[in-house]
Amino acid sequence: MSAPASQASVTVARLAASHLSKRYGHVAALNDVSVEFRPGLTGIIGDNGAGKSTLLKIFSGVEVPDEGAVLIDGEPVLLDSARVARRAGIESLYQDLALVETMSIAHNIFLGRELTRRVAGLCLVDRRKMRQAADEALRKVRIAMPPSRTGVRQLSGGQRQAVALARAMRFGARVVLLDEPTAALGPRETAAVLGIVRDMADRGETVVMVGHNLPQMLELADNLLVMRAGRVVATPDPRATTLRDLTEFMVGSLD
Ligand SMILES: Nc1ncnc2c1ncn2[C@@H]1O[C@H](COP(=O)(O)OP(=O)(O)OP(=O)(O)O)[C@@H](O)[C@H]1O
Ligand SMILES: [Mg+2]
Repeated sequence: MSAPASQASVTVARLAASHLSKRYGHVAALNDVSVEFRPGLTGIIGDNGAGKSTLLKIFSGVEVPDEGAVLIDGEPVLLDSARVARRAGIESLYQDLALVETMSIAHNIFLGRELTRRVAGLCLVDRRKMRQAADEALRKVRIAMPPSRTGVRQLSGGQRQAVALARAMRFGARVVLLDEPTAALGPRETAAVLGIVRDMADRGETVVMVGHNLPQMLELADNLLVMRAGRVVATPDPRATTLRDLTEFMVGSLD
């Protein structure tokens, strides 16, 4: 449900950017981009090379803009590493998810934030507690999953995405950024992952997803952002936009 206009106008976006530019040599990957992400699902679409991944990389601390600033809850922040972004509550998921193949599902969920217990003055990793907490987190993502002590290398692509999403939720991410999270998945896994994403948005999380499947984006997203040649060229309302409109925004007039 959207807030009344008077209320919406005073709400500060959890994540925003003002006047971002980023060049790679002669290529202007981003050219004066200002955006705001509010609770719910924002879909980012655009042709190959439009600058979508570059934008997400700036928010996730992987790239630093040449100009402009990232704002969290209205305050400018310097996100100069993935660690800093994550600490600020920005979780990013890519096709290559950086899960550790050789570790269990539970351990991956707690990677770098292991639960510990003290035994005779020693600080030990509390595997049992992590497994219990992991199982609880995985129940929320509602995708069929083997026991959380199972190694990640045994999981399908969809299950891996679900583990990464469970990790993002478990640590109360302020914002979750997804760059083509279903690109390598089959139809059933895609549906499962999109279901998780939609659930998160329904719970009031701020979720941002880049995708190329326009009908899917129209159906799923609460807000849309269209990029072309390094700029945001439209922010159409998905309930009042056609596929043809979207394609025109992406590539220019079809006539
Ligand atoms: N590390 C890099 N070095 C040089 N050029 C880059 C680099 N990363 C991106 N670019 C260029 O910046 C532009 C934007 O790239 P970006 O990856 O953001 O596009 P995209 O919208 O995510 O495209 P796709 O849909 O194909 O993933 C492209 O022209 C790309 O070639
Ligand atoms: Mg990309």
